[in-house]
Amino acid sequence: MKANVSEIARGVHRISTFHPDFGIQFNQFLIADDEPFLMHTGMRRMFECTLDGVRQVLDPTRLRWIGFSHFEADESGALDRWLALAPRAEAACSFVGAVVSVNDTAERPARALADGEVLAIGTHRMRFLATPHVPHGWDAGLFFEETDRTLLCSDLFFRGGDPPALSEDDIVAPARDAMREGAKGPLANDIPYTPYTDATLQRLAALEPRTLATMHGSSYRGDGARALRELAAVLRTELGNA
Ligand SMILES: [Fe+2]
Ligand SMILES: [Fe+2]
Repeated sequence: MKANVSEIARGVHRISTFHPDFGIQFNQFLIADDEPFLMHTGMRRMFECTLDGVRQVLDPTRLRWIGFSHFEADESGALDRWLALAPRAEAACSFVGAVVSVNDTAERPARALADGEVLAIGTHRMRFLATPHVPHGWDAGLFFEETDRTLLCSDLFFRGGDPPALSEDDIVAPARDAMREGAKGPLANDIPYTPYTDATLQRLAALEPRTLATMHGSSYRGDGARALRELAAVLRTELGNA
C-alpha cells in the first residue's frame, strides 16, 4: 500500500491509501499551517503508510492537532502513534468523544470541543460542529475550515473503489448506490436515521462549503450546499421510512 498525496484546497492535503482487502480508500486530510492539523489518524495498522504521506508535506513531529469525527479504527485508531511521535500533538474531538472514550483509551487527554468552537491554527480556522449520529456514533462531529469553506465530512458521501482525489462530478448518486449495495452486506446500516439527521445535514448545507473532503472516495469541489441537501433527501427516502 502507498499513500497518494494531493492538495485539494489551499493547504489542505489529501493523504489517500487504497486498501485492497477493503476495496476502499482511507483518506486523511492534513492542513498545513502554523499548527498543523491532521483529520483522522488512519488505522493503527496503516500507520507507516499514513506517516509516509504526512512526511511528503511536512515534518510529522510538528503536528499540533489530531482531529477526528468519531471513535473508530480508521478515524482514531492510530492516535497513540501520532501522540508518541509529535510531542505537542493533542487529539481534538467532541466533548462526548473525549469524556466517553479518548481520555481513557489514549496516552494523553483530548481537547474536548464544544459545538461551534474554533481552533485557529494559523491562516486556517477549524470550526467544530457536534453532529451526534451523523454519520454515526453518539460522539460524532465534523470540522469546517471556514476560511476557504472546506467541510471535512468523514464518512458522509461514502464511495468504494479508488476514484480520483478531487471531482466536480456528482458525488450523491455514487454515495446512494454505495449505500444500497452496502445494505446487502454484513456492514449494512452504517448511517442511522435519527430525529437529528435531517436538521444536521441542513445545518451543514447552510455553511455553503466549496469543497467536501470525504474520508472514503473522491473529494468534491462545487456547490457543497446542494450536495448536502441532495444527500439529506437520499437519506430521507432510503432510510427515513425504514
Ligand atoms: Fe465511521
Ligand atoms: Fe471512515
